[in-house]
Amino acid sequence: MARKIKVGTLISGGGTNLQAIIDACKENRISADIVFTGSDTPAVKGLERAETAGIDTFVVDYARIIQSCRSGIADTDLPADFDLDDIMAKQKLVDPSDETAAFFLKSRAIAEKQLLDYILSYDMDLLVLAGFMRVFTPYFIDRINTVPGKHRIMNIHPALLPAFPGTDGYGDTFRYGCKVGGCTVHFIDYGEDTGPIIGQKAFEIEDADTLDDVKRKGLAKEWELYPACIQKFAELL
Ligand code: GRF
Repeated sequence: MARKIKVGTLISGGGTNLQAIIDACKENRISADIVFTGSDTPAVKGLERAETAGIDTFVVDYARIIQSCRSGIADTDLPADFDLDDIMAKQKLVDPSDETAAFFLKSRAIAEKQLLDYILSYDMDLLVLAGFMRVFTPYFIDRINTVPGKHRIMNIHPALLPAFPGTDGYGDTFRYGCKVGGCTVHFIDYGEDTGPIIGQKAFEIEDADTLDDVKRKGLAKEWELYPACIQKFAELL
């Protein structure tokens, strides 16, 4: 059995994937312990799940931060080590010529700095995004992935990437008329849902299936896949 790795988790909502990982850790099915659960949204069910399991929690309220940025961002609001030119050149999330690109990157970096202040206070091997519905700029990614070539941020996506990136993988799969759906665990890179794939699970979509059926089948696969991918990481560390 691999040594126990320390896993940080980030969520935005219900946290059923988080629960699957909590259970896998508790039952020693994977060589991992969760050291914190952070959320970009206050009072979500996933935070309650973490608290019930005795895990430290914190909230960085992205919606509030972005809203307050709309009244203007002063240089002093930005992290001291924020370099817009560097972040703009590396990122693959927004069109640099778009007039909202700088606002997007600056406002996200302000939120990301608050996340980093919490996260970097923990000893952590791996950061797991368990239904965390925000993208990360290179500002954040470079401060977690500090060893060149070594990925440390994992995400789960509700489709068989590279098909259907974006926020509604099961919806897009269903509306396209696919007969097979699935989920993907991958590492985060500078693009959206583009990083190296760690694992995938597929399921059949019957003609009579509704979107709810697709989501139900997909989530059941996610709960198997995510702990398995964390274990794979632990064994390779
Ligand atoms: C999952 O479908 C995941 O793939 C997507 O968001 C959903 C989160 O569900 N990124 P939960 O919060 O883990 O229940």
